[in-house]
Amino acid sequence: MCGIVGYIGKEKSLPFLINGLKALEYRGYDSAGIAIFSHDKVQVKRKAGQVKVLENALKNDTDLIGHLGIGHTRWATHGMPNETNAHPHNDCMGRIFVVHNGIIENYKELKEYLQHRGHIFHSDTDTEVVPHLIEDFLRSNGDFNVALFDALKMIRGAYAFAIIDVKNPDTLYAVSFSSPLVIGVGADENFLASDPSALVGKSKNVIYIKDGEIAEITRSKIDIINLEQKKTPPEIVRLEWNLEQAQKGNYPHFMLKEIFEGPKIVFSALQGRLKSGKNLVKLGGLEQVNEKLKEAKRLIILACGTSYHAGLVGEYLFEEIAKLPTEVHFASEFRYREEPFEEGTVVIAISQSGETADTLAAIRKTKKHGLLTLGIVNTVGSTIARETDAGVYNHAGPEIGVASTKAFISQLTMLVLMAVYMSESNGHQLHHALLQELEKIPEKIKAILDKASEIEMLSEKYKDCENFLFLGRRYNYPVAFEGALKLKEISYIHAEGYGAGEMKHGPIAMISEKFPTMAIVPQNSVSEKMFSNLEEIKARKGPIFAIATEGDKEIVSLANDIFFVPKTIESLEPLLTIVPLQLFAYYVGTKRGFDVDKPRNLAKSVTVE
Ligand code: AGP
Repeated sequence: MCGIVGYIGKEKSLPFLINGLKALEYRGYDSAGIAIFSHDKVQVKRKAGQVKVLENALKNDTDLIGHLGIGHTRWATHGMPNETNAHPHNDCMGRIFVVHNGIIENYKELKEYLQHRGHIFHSDTDTEVVPHLIEDFLRSNGDFNVALFDALKMIRGAYAFAIIDVKNPDTLYAVSFSSPLVIGVGADENFLASDPSALVGKSKNVIYIKDGEIAEITRSKIDIINLEQKKTPPEIVRLEWNLEQAQKGNYPHFMLKEIFEGPKIVFSALQGRLKSGKNLVKLGGLEQVNEKLKEAKRLIILACGTSYHAGLVGEYLFEEIAKLPTEVHFASEFRYREEPFEEGTVVIAISQSGETADTLAAIRKTKKHGLLTLGIVNTVGSTIARETDAGVYNHAGPEIGVASTKAFISQLTMLVLMAVYMSESNGHQLHHALLQELEKIPEKIKAILDKASEIEMLSEKYKDCENFLFLGRRYNYPVAFEGALKLKEISYIHAEGYGAGEMKHGPIAMISEKFPTMAIVPQNSVSEKMFSNLEEIKARKGPIFAIATEGDKEIVSLANDIFFVPKTIESLEPLLTIVPLQLFAYYVGTKRGFDVDKPRNLAKSVTVE
């Protein structure tokens, strides 16, 4: 994934370009570059490495005073991460400068075609075909807009472009197709970015460029042109985030800050959504589809990564609370299935960024079959939020750490509310006790966070392990997967999540003194079975780190190390048991000396397939 920024306006463009790229670095950070229109020409500066390498290289550069600029931080998809392949890329004449986020699937044939027509290439990227293609059309038609449209018709793939044309220095061009771009509307200035986190503190009024649209942005005007080459009125969306939310505060890392936001996340997700009286849950975003929800016969949950693990918890919630048969699929696999959809199937897409390409593709597939699609999305105005028929926002604020933590907690909370909401839509029992317990979860998460130092101390003991098995059952089965993913992502330790019942069907062969198990074993309906699993591991000298319920005595004789969490209703346990696992991954990763906010090879929002 890559990050794009652009600026045109009353100020010099460089400060926003650099600060905007820093805010987007979690999307990709193997090289960075900028292009600024100054003194009647475009100055390009590119560097391998993180944005700060580029920033240091520009410290004493007095040329970069222009008010029109574009910038890019890269996560390589084609071509090594180096200065030559860093964006921006330009045409032969040095007139067209482009930064790109996405993948151009037919770039090889376009490159051969353009080389055949005399264009000279310098990089191994797919992006470089774009300025040359526009240049090629300009040869036959001097109008930039026409040449741009003609070039876009030849490009296949997912792309967001920011473009400078030397002959049109009062305009910043932006194009989006299956890759996000958002405009921050300012006073005598306008901003462009791949996502709103770069706009925080700059503008609260944003315009999402929709698929196939071109934006022509001057310092005082924004024209949106659609696929039919007609101007369409820009839709301004109010951005809820503030600068403080998008900054680390006094935490050493965004990841730790976002783990500690857990109590507030649950609390804010409940605000305005819990009522007394007949119906207990109000979800405004679903009211428009209420009648269709009453006819729901089956649910399909589509997501990736951490959001997929939240969906696995949702499967238990919807079946137990809303009595709806539910299946959960990796969106990246579902998109290839030929599933016969039955009447009354409702699709739920879960996505923090709202831009995950696999999830978007899977939703589009179900929409072709006429299914009702709902979204649980954190980023307001994002593509998935706009393309689903209805849905709810997490309102969890920007999640900057690449590893998803607070968004997962928020997704679980929304799934509980949605399950109760759909239970009521289907005339089932009310869930007073469940919702009353849900309102106590913020204080219970805080009680866990108050003991974070216990996890930090225990992480010292396990930080050099090379393998880890995570085991859970029922509601904690998805927590085992999510805990393993966190440890993998942040510490690069090989960690596997498994249903505890499956351990005897293979994984137990791995157990040894050097292969520890993280057992999620709160006191609940499956505790006895979990204890049997732990006996089997203990008999083979496997070290056990247990997440258990306060007051549980039996676990003491089974586990080498124990972290106690407060007692709660079984269906709400994941909201508590995941928190020590998030902390464990964070402390192990920091003790192993890794950048926990920007783990190697990862991107926050995977908007490529
Ligand atoms: C989570 O820690 C990962 N960064 C990743 O698995 C993420 O959950 C996945 O890419 C889905 O992202 P989304 O929620 O924005 O769709």
